[in-house]
Parts: sequence; C-alpha cells; structure tokens
Amino acid sequence: MYIDSANEKEIVEAFEYGIIKGVTTNPTILLKEKKERLKQIESILRINNTTLFVQILGDTSKEMMNDALFILNNFSKDNLILKIPITLEGLKVIKQLRNEKKEVKILGTAIYSANQGIAAGIAGVDFVAPYVNRMLVNSIDAYLEISKMKEYFSNHEINCQIMGASFKNANQVSEALISGADTVTVPLDILKQFASNDLAIHAVEVFNQHGKELNNINEMGNE
Ligand code: G3P
Repeated sequence: MYIDSANEKEIVEAFEYGIIKGVTTNPTILLKEKKERLKQIESILRINNTTLFVQILGDTSKEMMNDALFILNNFSKDNLILKIPITLEGLKVIKQLRNEKKEVKILGTAIYSANQGIAAGIAGVDFVAPYVNRMLVNSIDAYLEISKMKEYFSNHEINCQIMGASFKNANQVSEALISGADTVTVPLDILKQFASNDLAIHAVEVFNQHGKELNNINEMGNE
C-alpha cells in the first residue's frame, strides 16, 4: 500500500502504521502544499529514503520528455518513479524512455479503462494506476476494468503491477484489491479507516477495563 500525499506530517504518520511501501503524488497533491516542486520532491525523498512517484508535466510528448529528463537530472535515484499519463502523447514518451533510459521505472497514470491499462502494459510500464472513484462517478465499472487488465497481464506474462488509485472510502480499496489490483495508493484518512472500526475500539476498551480489574485481583492475592 502507498500513501497518496505530499504532506510531510501525513507521510511520517502513514509510515508509522507499518503498511506503507512508498509515496505517490500528482500535481494537484503537490499544489496543496504550496511549496516549490523540486524542494518538495527532495524533502519527501528524505523521509525514510522512501520510494516516490512523481508525475511528469506537459501537453506534448516533447514537453513531457523534457520534464522527465529535468526530474531525472535532479534526482538520479532508483527510488524515484515517473508517472506518465496514458494518452497518445504519453505513449510516445514511454517509448522514448524505454529506448533511451531502460532503468527508469514508470507508472502509467490517469487510467479510466482496461484499454488504457493494456496499452500501458504493452508499452512496458512497471505499474498502471486505474482511477477507481473517478471511474465509478463516471458510471464505469472500475472493478471490471481492473479484472480485465489483470487477466490480460497474467495471460501474456506482462510484468506490470496494478496500483489502484483515486479512492473515497476503504470499501472501494478492498474491492479494487479483490478485483485484481496488486497494490493501492490511498490518502491518510482512508488508510486510517482500515483499522479504525468502532466495534473493535469498543471491544479493546472493554478488554482493557477487564485487564485492570484482573490486575487488581492479582495485587489483592499478593497481599
Ligand atoms: O493518485 C492520484 C489519484 O489518486 C487521483 O485521486 O482523489 O483526485 O480522484 P483523486
């Protein structure tokens, strides 16, 4: 599981729960922090030497390629993964990177269909990010699209991980994982929903109360 945030406090807290493998961002998430882009990337990378996904900017493949090189020149680290939107221009950039910089890891982003995911897999990306909630609000069956991508990748032995993204609640996350997503990226509030069940919290309170009473019995027995 990954944390979808550029907020350093949130990222540090997310890592404390022990189920986070790295950090994903996009331009909207970075903009929320109102800090210079390169400085943000630098400071996030310093947190636990984390894996960080950074989205490439640009309308044309030329602009996107320039931005990819700009990011790679500033951060020549193998824990930095480029996010490239799966558009026709994005595919051109992936082709160029695959020819010229084979070592660079790539995630195909802004995926709203199995078709886009399959194209990205064939193009040779390492991850694809289907946008689950955004698909659902556009009446697209996100879970079916994920299962189609998964089936295609496994039938053709394509080594591409499906990272579900764009979630509005923990149930969407579980559904995406059950449908075939290999991993997911979630904001902190949804990460916390995974283990903050009111019934569980109440059960633990009762156990702790009984534990105190039990200790009192032990102490009385020792007198
Ligand atoms: O990683 C970005 C993707 O998760 C988009 O999320 O919440 O803007 O739909 P959202």
